[in-house]
Amino acid sequence: MTMRSCLSVVLAAGLGTRMKSDLPKVMHEVGGLALVGHVLKALQSAGSERVSVVTGPDMPTLENLVREVSPSAQCHVQTDRLGTAHAALAAKPALEKAAEDVLVLFGDTPLVTPETILAVRAALREGADLVVLGFEADNPFGYGRLLTEEGRLVAIREEKDASETERRVTFCNSGIMGFNGQHALALLEAIGNDNAKREFYLTDAVEIANARGLKVVAVTGSEAETQGINTRAQLAACEAAFQQRMREAALENGCTLLAPETVFFSHDTKLEPDVTVEQNVVFGPGVKVAGGARIRAFSHLEGAQVGSGSLVGPYARLRPGAVLGADTHIGNFVEVKNATFGSGAKANHLSYIGDASVGSKTNIGAGTITCNYDGYLKHRTEIGAGSFVGSNSTLVAPVRLGNGVFTAAGSVITKDVQRDSLAFGRAKQVVKDGGAVRLREKLQAAKDAKS
Ligand code: UD1
Ligand code: CA
Repeated sequence: MTMRSCLSVVLAAGLGTRMKSDLPKVMHEVGGLALVGHVLKALQSAGSERVSVVTGPDMPTLENLVREVSPSAQCHVQTDRLGTAHAALAAKPALEKAAEDVLVLFGDTPLVTPETILAVRAALREGADLVVLGFEADNPFGYGRLLTEEGRLVAIREEKDASETERRVTFCNSGIMGFNGQHALALLEAIGNDNAKREFYLTDAVEIANARGLKVVAVTGSEAETQGINTRAQLAACEAAFQQRMREAALENGCTLLAPETVFFSHDTKLEPDVTVEQNVVFGPGVKVAGGARIRAFSHLEGAQVGSGSLVGPYARLRPGAVLGADTHIGNFVEVKNATFGSGAKANHLSYIGDASVGSKTNIGAGTITCNYDGYLKHRTEIGAGSFVGSNSTLVAPVRLGNGVFTAAGSVITKDVQRDSLAFGRAKQVVKDGGAVRLREKLQAAKDAKS
């Protein structure tokens, strides 16, 4: 099947005042990615080649995000916010270049899937001039209602303009629309602002298209995909739905989640089959876990890679740049940042390993700290393979330990240690025979003298 040419316009200029936030609404995050980023990713997966994003004036963070997620997308600025149809027309330069399909999507509707976008395009391919993606809402309050007659989509009525009877309709507008490219610009330009909010409503395209004898259809999607975000409560509900989707996908892909409802994912979390995740684990952005690894309870991972067969946690923290080879162990209360662990390396208890490399099969004793920061600059600690870093070692970077090195427990290591050497960096122990008896006698005498 050959793909028809397509322009997608994503509306993202609205401030979302009900969020009570300094951030543009579409920059709020679900699964660690801005709402509009999800829409752009779905468009990419649906193979949409031309994408335009309508931003508000002075939204540099939004423009940066668009460049990051969809480098080929074009940004258009809507200077005054006069409604969704007015926003779509901000992309007029793009709309003037012919496309067979024109899609309009909202940046505040992040859970739409590529399959649903393709379903809207399929309806256009089958001859519709205007397609509206609708859904059955549990609570339709605030959504535009789809008014149908004998299966035909007649109009969309916004909450504020709806009559009592119309408000009882639960079939709602998701905001996603598809236009036959031949009619898109003309329909958008025919929309006026004669309504309760004095806004140019994209939804009015339906009545205008019907009046012109064009074919208007509604396609039904699921509420889980089409819920829009106007409030923090809706943002929280959307996050919950997103997490549910990620958990189901992980299980489907062959991971074991001991308590799925307690595991939290980012939009880009990658778990290979046969990964096991215990209870209460949080995956921040940028985590990859290879097969056979086990992430134990109460661990927090972000920007990290975990090699196959590794054991992480309980209570481990992997920060950005943590790269663990195969069969490594990172145990309780161990923090790893910007550090590589060779295969079979272990840090099982209470450590901070940052800006470091740890060779394969090296054991990092409990309480070991890399002192990577002197208050001005960060420095590296390099530890070779097959070494044994004694408990409570303090490794003052920059410092290098070769292969097969042994450091004594409690050492402060400030100088490089060559291969197969044993390093002591602590005060020598002194033992005085009977000294404890003499000390007790002295202390007792001092106490007696006082009373
Ligand atoms: C809109 C729809 C409603 C639908 C609901 C689905 C209209 C008139 N109403 O209502 O039928 O049920 O979405 O979630 O279309 N935007 C701009 N510039 C503007 C106004 C809005 O870019 O001037 C953007 C917003 O950033 C947002 C999107 O358009 O991403 C939707 O706007 P919003 O104000 O959230 O519309 P709703 O009231 O939710
Ligand atoms: Ca909305």
